Amino acid sequence: MNNLSIPNNYWDTSLYEDKHAFVWQYGEDLLKFLNPQPGESILDLGCGTGQLTEKIAQAGAQVMGVDHASTMIEKARQNYPHIRFDVADATNFQVDKPLDAVFSNAVLHWVKEADSAIASIHQSLKPGGRFVAEFGSKGNVEAIVTALSSALEAFNISAQTLNPWYFPSIGEYATLLEQQGFDVIYAILFPRPTPLAEGEAGMANWIQMFASSFLAELSGEQHTQVIHAVEEQLKPTLYQQGTWTADYRRIRIVAIKP
Ligand SMILES: C[S@@+](CC[C@H](N)C(=O)[O-])C[C@H]1O[C@@H](n2cnc3c(N)ncnc32)[C@H](O)[C@@H]1O
Repeated sequence: MNNLSIPNNYWDTSLYEDKHAFVWQYGEDLLKFLNPQPGESILDLGCGTGQLTEKIAQAGAQVMGVDHASTMIEKARQNYPHIRFDVADATNFQVDKPLDAVFSNAVLHWVKEADSAIASIHQSLKPGGRFVAEFGSKGNVEAIVTALSSALEAFNISAQTLNPWYFPSIGEYATLLEQQGFDVIYAILFPRPTPLAEGEAGMANWIQMFASSFLAELSGEQHTQVIHAVEEQLKPTLYQQGTWTADYRRIRIVAIKP
């Protein structure tokens, strides 16, 4: 499959599970904010391969995972056959019965239609239900995006139109939540420098996993050239003692439907 034919909801589950387990490992901390209780009905929105969905199930909650990538859902079902996983999109999902909570780790920066996602989350919750999420904030991976943009300029490609992410500030996202009726009871933005696995290959793997849409208009050879240029630009700041560190910044939000 070349880049041009990769749809935006295609995820390589082997690359994700083998080399990017840090996503759900960091996400475990967010479970403290969810504090799932036995018998509660909880949706894991953008569940990926299901590792955090399983943690919520272990707490005794009735959890279900949804994701718009069928590859992720197939893998989640294989990993945890006792949990219900369905293909659904954050911007228009529906639930059978109102939920106690919606949980979402490392997903909402992929959802540019934030208003539609917030409306779907709001309508899926019971009164008093909670929404607990973490995702990339304003300034997330800024050094990497800047390096990709300048490397693409050499090919007369504007990175802006290929950028798949929405990285809001707390003010922006909390305002959207409040406009749709949520009470925002907790919000924090924090830097989380994230070491990448695989030594020298770490940045190239990360770009292939998460940032391949920037490379969509390039041939295979140009692809390699851009990754090399990005590595050269970032080495002085993000590569130390054989390890790449991505300049992550995260938002954590807890909101209640009154
Ligand atoms: C980095 S993974 C995180 C997966 C999981 N939450 C975890 O912590 O391991 C991001 C996930 O968001 C999903 N995703 C992105 N946009 C989505 C959308 N509009 N609706 C549902 N899922 C989406 C992707 O398919 C992917 O599985």
